Amino acid sequence: MSTIPPVIAIDGPAASGKSTVGKLVAETLGFLLFDTGALYRAVTLTALRRGIPIEDEACISDLARTIHIDLIPSQEKDGRPYTVLVDGEDLTWAIRSEPVDAHVSAVSAYPGVREALKHQQRRIAWQGKVVMAGRDIGTVVFPEAPLKVYLDATPEVRARRRCEELRARGEEADFDEILAGVRRRDAIDSTRAMAPLRIADDAVVINTDDMTVDEVVDAIVQLARERFDDPA
Ligand code: CDP
Ligand code: CDP
Repeated sequence: MSTIPPVIAIDGPAASGKSTVGKLVAETLGFLLFDTGALYRAVTLTALRRGIPIEDEACISDLARTIHIDLIPSQEKDGRPYTVLVDGEDLTWAIRSEPVDAHVSAVSAYPGVREALKHQQRRIAWQGKVVMAGRDIGTVVFPEAPLKVYLDATPEVRARRRCEELRARGEEADFDEILAGVRRRDAIDSTRAMAPLRIADDAVVINTDDMTVDEVVDAIVQLARERFDDPA
């Protein structure tokens, strides 16, 4: 029997802080951050660029099985938590664009897409010392994870965070539109048949509405130090 590797699963809805907090937790503990949303975004962007209709489930599932996505630590100083390469091309910012936001939940509801990406995620998790962020890490992708965290915040707080983030990057942001998009994605992600967004029975829920990033990071690092023998 193999021992379960040190993995921290961080799930939660859009803009609850998974990647920002996850990156800092990973840095503190000497772990790697693996943000699984980037995989679904990369498949969606590639489908849009190749003109594959989002309704074409078979074709999009094939695409998920064949494209090569790498998440690698970044040297760039433009605020990116990591670099995303799709078939070798740097698409780190392109996967965060509005058309991808609008279609990614439809793409990620396809069982063929989820199955293809699940294999890649489990392979990474088994390498250990990883903070894996997503929607279904603690419930489906790696239910063995010794520490599961569910980050939450109201849709309004999350939409405000997303607006501030876009404006900080010099992009335009309309609060009402972003709030509607966040709610729409929450609804699709939580009601899809396969691997819906839900809190794992053994997850620690952190409501981040009134917490700073550093406070959330400290809480998770504390849990990791209690849970793992030598998390650094
Ligand atoms: O950053 P944000 O929370 O807005 O989104 P993300 O984590 O990049 O995820 C984008 C979309 O991918 C989500 O809305 C989900 O539809 C899908 N996703 C998923 O289904 N399962 C995951 N483990 C991660 C993301
Ligand atoms: O990955 P996910 O979509 O869950 O969230 P994110 O991309 O990390 O974005 C969250 C945004 O909210 C970032 O701009 C953070 O600086 C900010 N924030 C946070 O993550 N946690 C808090 N407690 C407060 C603010």
